[in-house]
Amino acid sequence: MDKFKTTEALRTKAEQMKSQHIRELFEDENRFTEFSRQFEGLLFDFSKSKVDAEVLDLLESLAGEAKLQQGIADLFAGKEVNNTENRPALHMALRSAEPSYRIDGGEDVKPLILAEEQKFAKFVNNVRSGKWKGHTGKPIKTIVNIGIGGSDLGPKMVCQALKPNSNQQLRMRFISSIDANHVFPILTVCDPETTLFIVESKTFGTEETLTNANTCRGWLLSSMSNDASAVAKHFVAVTTNIEKARAFGIDPRNMFGFWDWVGGRYSVWSAIGLPIALSLGMEQFKEFQAGAAAMDSHFKTAPIKKNLPALLGLLGVWNQNFLEYKTHAILPYDEYLRWFPDYLQQLEMESNGKSVNKGGQPIDYKTCPILWGGQGNNGQHAFYQLLHQGTRYVFHEFFAPVEATNPMGDHHLKLLANCLAQSEALMKGRTAEEAREAMKAEGLSDSEIERLVPFRSFAGDKPSHTFLYKELTPRLLGSLIALYEHKTFTQGWIWDINSFDQWGVELGKQMCKRLQPILSGDVSADNLDASTKGLINYTLENRD
Ligand code: F6P
Repeated sequence: MDKFKTTEALRTKAEQMKSQHIRELFEDENRFTEFSRQFEGLLFDFSKSKVDAEVLDLLESLAGEAKLQQGIADLFAGKEVNNTENRPALHMALRSAEPSYRIDGGEDVKPLILAEEQKFAKFVNNVRSGKWKGHTGKPIKTIVNIGIGGSDLGPKMVCQALKPNSNQQLRMRFISSIDANHVFPILTVCDPETTLFIVESKTFGTEETLTNANTCRGWLLSSMSNDASAVAKHFVAVTTNIEKARAFGIDPRNMFGFWDWVGGRYSVWSAIGLPIALSLGMEQFKEFQAGAAAMDSHFKTAPIKKNLPALLGLLGVWNQNFLEYKTHAILPYDEYLRWFPDYLQQLEMESNGKSVNKGGQPIDYKTCPILWGGQGNNGQHAFYQLLHQGTRYVFHEFFAPVEATNPMGDHHLKLLANCLAQSEALMKGRTAEEAREAMKAEGLSDSEIERLVPFRSFAGDKPSHTFLYKELTPRLLGSLIALYEHKTFTQGWIWDINSFDQWGVELGKQMCKRLQPILSGDVSADNLDASTKGLINYTLENRD
């Protein structure tokens, strides 16, 4: 990043701001107005982070130097932004309402998308209406999605987030891990006659998914007198690899396609969203896509300081590369967003966890931070101690709905109070003097007060972003996901890395294949390192 002239100025500014407590920044009464933005029903407050007008100016200059606007134009125009796989990244085409969408001025992909969507919509309506019958003539009651990574996290997160909007007649289940402890308990509560399996895999080559799909097919057939024709009524596939899905035994009429220019972690808008459409119906699925499309046009056209995804990405670069916060906590105060931290983990860490630039040169600056998190209110009684008083520099991101989805007494008011209190406490902290006052009010003796002051003081100065939204509608969730997709792109662009490949997942997969015959006892462990060999020998000696 040293190639950008603004980098030096940002470094100097960061050194100055590191020693300035965020509390002091609030002497400016307009701070909230100046450092918050709205997009449709979404409020983004970044005033409780270490920014001021000069930081925003510098980040705007950085974006200018990096030609971010050109990057955005290239992305939307279908240029080959995924340079190691020679592909564009065109997930935006899936949700665009435009009648045509061309890859780099060439092929129009919209007719392909629309044809697939029609097939998809017909299937969704048939299943939801009960017209689609299982092998024994019963309508479908349970959908089991079999997929992993982008073929699991997107549909699972969205189905959970929009559960209140769903057709409760269809039970949604998700199998991802190769661990039989994931598959077994789900199959035990499913009725084969009324269960439909969706095998989702972009490549149709993922071992976890194929193993799980085989197990589920065996389970189905064992309850259908091994009548292979039952598979067509209980298995459909979503893939870009029709040949492999056909070889697996899925009838092409039961396949829904998408294309190699849709990355796995960006595929929720394609037929990979089938579980969502089954759960919500096509109308709401289209609203979900429309919310994302609205964020797309905003990203394409808004000036940097008003552009939510660009701003979120640039602020992330500021926090990570200049203020040096080490990890990024995703803290939803919304039970329905339970899977959102996991979803963002894949989106950002698989996209931007890279250490060579687009030209293949090693880079000497930090790229994606570690994202982690969980439901905020539970976290308060578990890991927040470290956030408030630990020695790690964490950046916090809070999410909460203004309205209660299930109004019950004062639950929602208390939930919101908890969320807002946490960001306030993290930011302000409590000085020794304030701690003394509080303890005096509790009636503690002077000596006890002095003994406890170091433990009951809080340095504060812990930054956060807060997102508030009236309610989590399909449209709003679509916008929120697209916001993070484009944040991820913005950061990848500034860091000069390819956000759309994931070579880092390959080595472990290959080694896993090599270890399987050794773990079966068919091949000797002698050529392995001492640790792996020791672990395998322990396994072989201790299993029944
Ligand atoms: O191994 C990582 C990965 O390739 C992800 O990028 C992807 O979302 C996931 O595995 C599943 O891949 P597929 O949809 O091809 O089964």
